[in-house]
Amino acid sequence: MSEDIYPVPAEWAENAKVDAAGYDRLYRQSIDDSEAFWLEQAKRLDWLAFPSRADESSFLQADFGIKWFADGRLNVAANCLDRHLASRGAAPAIVWEPDDPTDTPRIITYLELYEQVCRLANVLKAQGVKKGDRVTVYLPMIPEAAVALLACARIGAVHSVVFGGFSPDALAGRIEDCGSKIVITADEGRRGGKTVPLKANVDAACDLAGIVETVIVVAATGGTVTMKPGRDVDYATVMAAAPAKCPTEPMSAEDPLFILYTSGSTGKPKGVMHTSGGYLLWAALTHETVFDYRPGQVYWCAADIGWVTGHSYIVYGPLANGGTTLMYEGVPNWPDASRIWQVVDRHQVEILYTAPTALRALMKDGDGFVAKTSRTSLKLLGTVGEPINPEAWRWYHEIVGEGRCPIVDTWWQTETGGHMITPLPGATPLKPGSATKPFFGIEPKLLDEKGAALEGPASGNLVIARSWPGQMRGVWGDPERFFQTYFTTYVGVYTTGDGARRDADGYWWITGRVDDVINVSGHRMGTAEVESALVLHAKVAEAAVVGFPHDIKGQGIYAYVTLNAGEESSDALRKELRDWVRTEIGPIATPDAIQFAPGLPKTRSGKIMRRILRKVAEGDVASLGDTSTLADPAVVDDLVKNRVG
Ligand code: WTA
Repeated sequence: MSEDIYPVPAEWAENAKVDAAGYDRLYRQSIDDSEAFWLEQAKRLDWLAFPSRADESSFLQADFGIKWFADGRLNVAANCLDRHLASRGAAPAIVWEPDDPTDTPRIITYLELYEQVCRLANVLKAQGVKKGDRVTVYLPMIPEAAVALLACARIGAVHSVVFGGFSPDALAGRIEDCGSKIVITADEGRRGGKTVPLKANVDAACDLAGIVETVIVVAATGGTVTMKPGRDVDYATVMAAAPAKCPTEPMSAEDPLFILYTSGSTGKPKGVMHTSGGYLLWAALTHETVFDYRPGQVYWCAADIGWVTGHSYIVYGPLANGGTTLMYEGVPNWPDASRIWQVVDRHQVEILYTAPTALRALMKDGDGFVAKTSRTSLKLLGTVGEPINPEAWRWYHEIVGEGRCPIVDTWWQTETGGHMITPLPGATPLKPGSATKPFFGIEPKLLDEKGAALEGPASGNLVIARSWPGQMRGVWGDPERFFQTYFTTYVGVYTTGDGARRDADGYWWITGRVDDVINVSGHRMGTAEVESALVLHAKVAEAAVVGFPHDIKGQGIYAYVTLNAGEESSDALRKELRDWVRTEIGPIATPDAIQFAPGLPKTRSGKIMRRILRKVAEGDVASLGDTSTLADPAVVDDLVKNRVG
C-alpha cells in the first residue's frame, strides 16, 4: 500500500473555504459542542420554522431512534429552487449533455427548472398524489429526472427512484414494497448509442405489481410505445396544461423525502429512508465543503440518478447550493474513451466526481484519449463507490489532472446520505487510496470481532459512534429491520458493514465489505439476491455467490450452481443462467463466472463455508484453511478441479 503524501497545493491552502487549521477547529467543535455546531450549520437552509434542537438520536434499544432538527419546518424544493430565483433565476441550474455528442446539450436555468417543477407538482396533485404518498421514478439521465424528484419534494410526496438498468421484476418488487400507485418513466432511455425499453419494462412491472394506477411517460427518444388508456399519461401534454406555479408543502424536518432500495447481506433489497431537514443539510454542507463549491462553477457528478450519489450530488446538494450541475445521459467510453474529457472541455467543467471503475476502464484504453483533450478547466477531482487503487489514483492525478488537481476520495453509503470520511481539498494532505479524515460530526471507530475498540494504528470493523444529520431514518415498512441490521452487531454504534485500517497519522483506509455484499463497478449487490434469482430457475437446486477480484469492476460475481438431479451442465445452460439473472435482477447482476458444482462445502450443521468458496473463486487454492469440519471434505477437491477462470 502506498504511503506517498501529496501536500495541499499552496493556492488551495490559501483560497479554499476550509484550510487545515479550519478543519481542526470545526471538526473539534462538531464533536465537543455538537448541538451549537449543528444549529449554526442549520442556518444554511431556509426554514419555515427554525429548529430549536439539533440531535435527539439514540443508537440504544431502550430509546432507539434517529431524529435531527425535529421541530424545524421547511420544504426541500423551496430550498433548491425558490430561494435562488431572485439572485440566480437566469443562472444555469442543469447543464444536460446528451448521449450522442452530435445532439444539442440543454441548459436549464433556475427559473425554468422552477416552472417545470411547479407544473409537474400540479400534475401529480391532479393525479391525486398527496403528502406522504410514494412515487416511483424510473427515468433515464434526462433533466426530467431532477424535475420529478423536486416535484415530489414540493408537494411532500416520497420518491423512490429505481435505476433504469433494473429489470421489470426488480422494479415490480420495489413498487410493491413501498406501495406506489404512480410511476414516472420515459418511452426509452439512451446509453452508449443503445436504447433501453423503459416503458415496456414498466408495462411488465405493472402486470406483476398490480397496484399502479397512473404511469406518466416522458417522450425521451420518441420511440414507439403502447399507451394504456385510463392509466398512461403523456408528460408533455399534461405539463403544457398545468399551471407554472405551485405552493410548497410545509414539511417537518423529519418527514420522509425519499426511499432508495439498496442491497444488504440478507434477503431482498431494503428501502433506505431519508427525511427532509437533516438529509438536505448534510447533502448541501458536504457538497459545498468537500468540493469547495462556489456558484458559477460547472460541477459534474458522473453518477446515475438511480443511486444515492445521484440523489445527493447531482440533485439535492448542488441545487441547495445554487450550483450548476451537469447531467450526462451516456456512458464514459462512448463513442470512444475520450468522451468524458470532451464533455469536460465542452462545458468547462471545474469539478469532476466519478467512480474508480470508470477510471480503470478508461486507463486501460491508454493515455492518448486523455492527452488529445485540453482539461484546463478542471480544478478538483473526486471519486466514490469503492476503494481506489493507488495506480488508478495516480493516473487520475497525473494524467487527467496533470498534477494540478487535488483528489477527494469520498467514503460514504446510501445509508449515510452523504460524505463521511473524505479529504477537504484545502485542508488535507492526500495519500493515494486513503479516504483520509472524518467529515465534521463524524466519529469513526474500529472494533475487533468481539466489539472491543482498537486504538492507534489498527485494522477492524468500521463503526460510527454517534448520529449525524444525513443518517438514514429507517427501512421502509420494517422499523425492526433497521435496528437489527445496523445496531445489534455492536451495541451503541452504527455498523457500516465495511472494514477499515487507521494508520499512524490517523488516516482511514477502507478495505471493503466485511459482510456478504459485493461491490461490482461501484454498485452494491447482495450475494443473497443473486442466489435467490438463480434458485428460481427450474434446473437449479442450490446456488452460492461470492465476489472475486476483477481488474476493471473491482469485484466480479462468481456463482457456484448445483443442478437438480438429472440435469446436465453445459455452456448453453451457463449462458441461460446468466441471461436468467439479467432478466430477474438486471444486467449489473450478471455473473462473471458460473461453476457447476455437484455439492457445496457445508458444515455438519448445513452452513455453507463461504470462506472456501471465496478462496477458490480468487484462485487462491493453496490456502483453503481447515476443511476438516466440512460434512463432506471431498467436495472441495471437485471445486478446485473445476474452477472457472
Ligand atoms: C463502498 C455509495 C472505499 C463501501 C456512495 C460502502 C467505498 C459502499 C467508497 C456503499 C470509497 C463507497 N472508498 N469504499 N471512497 N465509497 N464505498 O450504498 O463498501 O452504493 O459501504 O453508496 O461502497 O455503497 P452505496
